[in-house]
Amino acid sequence: MRLDKFLSESTDLSRSEARKVLKSGGITVNGEVVNKGTHVIQEGDGVMWEDEPLALIGLRYIMLNKPAGYECSLKNSAYPSVMTLLDIEKRDRLHTVGRLDVDTTGLILITDDGQWTHRIISPRHQCDKVYVATLAEPLADNAEEVFQAGILLNGEDTPTLPALLERIDERTARLTIQEGRYHQVKRMFAYLGNLVLTLHRERIGQLSLGDDLELGESRYLTPEEVHAFVAED
Ligand code: URA
Repeated sequence: MRLDKFLSESTDLSRSEARKVLKSGGITVNGEVVNKGTHVIQEGDGVMWEDEPLALIGLRYIMLNKPAGYECSLKNSAYPSVMTLLDIEKRDRLHTVGRLDVDTTGLILITDDGQWTHRIISPRHQCDKVYVATLAEPLADNAEEVFQAGILLNGEDTPTLPALLERIDERTARLTIQEGRYHQVKRMFAYLGNLVLTLHRERIGQLSLGDDLELGESRYLTPEEVHAFVAED
């Protein structure tokens, strides 16, 4: 890889800033000052910017416990973006794996690996998404059957895939779906004449949020957690 590309991949420097740093003699490769962006870096080369060793940022896989009041967007709009909760380099390369509504809390995945994202959100892969909803009204007696049979939501021409509903109490339920249609959970409960008051995602595939992350906190996934999604077919 060329040194100028390496610098823009491994730092927050723009191309033109990287050129200036190179010109000023701020970059060494294996202890020698290198001024040319065209210089080709070999595997194992030690690249330093002043006293700082540089390394390529690989693909990143993050879980965040999303608080209410944040949007799953790349930029702040009406609400701050969930990305502002991450204190990491090259944030602009990341995207959320699907979306949660601004008032929904819980597990959201964030990555810069588009293929991995596709693997999780594509309905073809039928990856479970597990939500706990609190409801304004007592849950209808036949809710399990209705959700299992599939619902034709307003304005759509295919019914929802079979969904698993577990009653936690009269107004709280855990719902497992394998799709991510727009406001899907809220619309499914609306179909039963109910209103979702709070919605929390606790699991995607085999990956549970667990109790370790407070709202707003995040952590990198382990390699095993990342690969579990690829192995789920
Ligand atoms: N379904 C919804 O209605 N909202 C979410 O945030 C996620 C799923």
